Amino acid sequence: MDLGLTDKVAIVTGSGRGIGAATAQRLAQEGAKVVIADRDPDTATATANRLRAEGHAVHCVVGDITRQADVQRLVDETVAAFGTVHILVNNAGFPRDGFLTTMSEEDWDLVVDVILKGAFLACKAVMPHMIAQRWGRIVNISSRAHLGNPGQANYSAAKAGIIGLTNALALEEGRYGITINAVAPGFVETEMVRALPHYEQIRDRAVRGTPVQRAGRPEDIATAVAFLASECAGYISGETLHVTGGRYAS
Ligand SMILES: NC(=O)c1ccc[n+]([C@@H]2O[C@H](COP(=O)([O-])OP(=O)(O)OC[C@H]3O[C@@H](n4cnc5c(N)ncnc54)[C@H](O)[C@@H]3O)[C@@H](O)[C@H]2O)c1
Repeated sequence: MDLGLTDKVAIVTGSGRGIGAATAQRLAQEGAKVVIADRDPDTATATANRLRAEGHAVHCVVGDITRQADVQRLVDETVAAFGTVHILVNNAGFPRDGFLTTMSEEDWDLVVDVILKGAFLACKAVMPHMIAQRWGRIVNISSRAHLGNPGQANYSAAKAGIIGLTNALALEEGRYGITINAVAPGFVETEMVRALPHYEQIRDRAVRGTPVQRAGRPEDIATAVAFLASECAGYISGETLHVTGGRYAS
């Protein structure tokens, strides 16, 4: 299937590594010009260089997605490098786990800010360009945790919030040819989850509860994002696609 992504311009936040890096790579392989956006200069540069070495058109912007000035610079640099922005993938995010009684206000703010405020700022900054060209695709990375995970009140609330943001924007912006969808991954092996305490136990439990009986790979999520970002998906908006190996249904 030709996804119709040739020469489309895509920003992927948090694309220095993990799901974001795999998504940027997949979009580039489909012909898109990609912007690697991450707060970590080392991984951002390494991923951008790797994709350039594969022959893709890549721009790299280092910045913090929770800061309005950084987000505006990300979009301005994208437009300066590639002329416009067609696709935004709001992927930057991380957990700071703990039960409510011990969760600090700082850990609440950090997680809600990176996931929700970051997506809000990025959507707001790209929207004038998408509206002007009457075409846009936004894919927000939620999580199966939007259902509510014990020890993840901040993360679960933010990932549920992302679905509300997705639905509200789908209603607001559809008239301009812009679709907004969410992808909710299950357990995906990345450095983020490998850094969790009791990683092996969490992994084993997740795989046992997954009908296809394996952990997710970043490429599994990248494929779903590329489809929703494509020309082909123009009649899909306000949806949340669970990519969990069947675990969502269990
Ligand atoms: N791995 C999983 O099992 C899983 C499951 C469901 C959802 N997710 C979500 O997928 C997304 C990617 O997760 P991952 O596992 O690839 O994580 P990861 O930690 O490997 O990658 C996240 C990237 O985001 C960047 N980032 C963090 N804060 C940032 C900020 N303020 N500004 C810019 N960049 C920032 C990090 O530097 C990192 O490169 C996250 O939103 C995560 O919540 C992951």
